[in-house]
Amino acid sequence: MRVVVIGGTGHIGTFLVPRLVKAGHDVIVASRGKRKPYVPHPAWNQVQHVEIDRDAEDHAGTFGSCIAALRADAVVNLICFTPESAQQLVDALKHRRSPPTSRLPLILHCGTMWVHGRPASVPVTEDMPRHPFGDYGIKKTAIEKLLLDATRRGDARATVLHPGHMVGPGWNPVNPAGHFNPDVFTRIARGDVLVLPNEGMETVHHVHADDVAQAFELALSNPDASVGESFHVVSPAPMTLRAYAEGMYAHFGKKPRLEFRPWEEWKQTVTEDEAAATWDHIAHSPHGSIAKARQRLGYAPRYSSLEAVIESVSDRINNQGRKA
Ligand SMILES: NC(=O)c1ccc[n+]([C@@H]2O[C@H](COP(=O)([O-])OP(=O)(O)OC[C@H]3O[C@@H](n4cnc5c(N)ncnc54)[C@H](OP(=O)(O)O)[C@@H]3O)[C@@H](O)[C@H]2O)c1
Repeated sequence: MRVVVIGGTGHIGTFLVPRLVKAGHDVIVASRGKRKPYVPHPAWNQVQHVEIDRDAEDHAGTFGSCIAALRADAVVNLICFTPESAQQLVDALKHRRSPPTSRLPLILHCGTMWVHGRPASVPVTEDMPRHPFGDYGIKKTAIEKLLLDATRRGDARATVLHPGHMVGPGWNPVNPAGHFNPDVFTRIARGDVLVLPNEGMETVHHVHADDVAQAFELALSNPDASVGESFHVVSPAPMTLRAYAEGMYAHFGKKPRLEFRPWEEWKQTVTEDEAAATWDHIAHSPHGSIAKARQRLGYAPRYSSLEAVIESVSDRINNQGRKA
């Protein structure tokens, strides 16, 4: 298949693009050409790169036609944050039926677990009503509806995949305090005290970026099972902040030294940005079921949440060592 990956050099693309090349697809990556994949791979030599700035093309109303001109059998829509941008893509691909089947190109869209907002029960399943909050989650929910409605009408062939907190070698994962400052891992590694908000019982639901890539590859190769559907793409189980912290202390061979403060008090102990990130994570407290992706796509995540984080943190430590 000829596959266009929009935004293919980031967290997901780093793992997805080599997978697609290995599976024998002709891969075109569309991005601004500023970013490089986190992990080098020889497969990148076989990838065509097309320089497109989605924001600028969206603004000019030309984004959809730029992508349609690439004559893909499938478009992996990794960076799409507004319904208007998604609509441009649907409109442009609507008239592009690929021979010999005359079927519309597949759209594999990247959503987020944030579409669930505050679900009525957990683990949340894909069929549960959406209660998003915050601009990002609300727009991602609108995009999901737009794509699945267009698919029902026969105007698109779309699948929506909803990742959790993405983890992998090369970037800082959401830490056990719910924000991104890597000092939290340093403190744990030294066996120092870590203060958590509330009782540390809110959840985070990580996923290794290669497991997200696995789900995209499976959705691409099983259109009969995936088109018109949404799937959660998370690890087999979330972690409470408390259990996550304890797991990291154990990883570093230290005894957990956790303290807890009510939210209003805790947020005074970190920067404004850290508090905002933690609030976003604990207010959502994602806990997604992957039963549907397992059953229909054969999704089998290789990493638990903790394994994914440990790989990422170990990579950060090793890289610091190399730089020193
Ligand atoms: N990060 C998470 O934990 C998380 C969790 C759930 C869902 N998601 C979803 O994951 C998706 C993002 O995927 P990712 O994390 O793999 O991406 P990413 O690491 O943020 O990388 C972004 C990619 O898009 C390209 N890009 C950025 N701005 C662009 C523009 N204006 N025009 C064209 N290309 C552009 C970048 O390359 P250039 O800079 O070179 O253009 C790069 O290839 C989003 O849909 C997000 O909602 C993320």
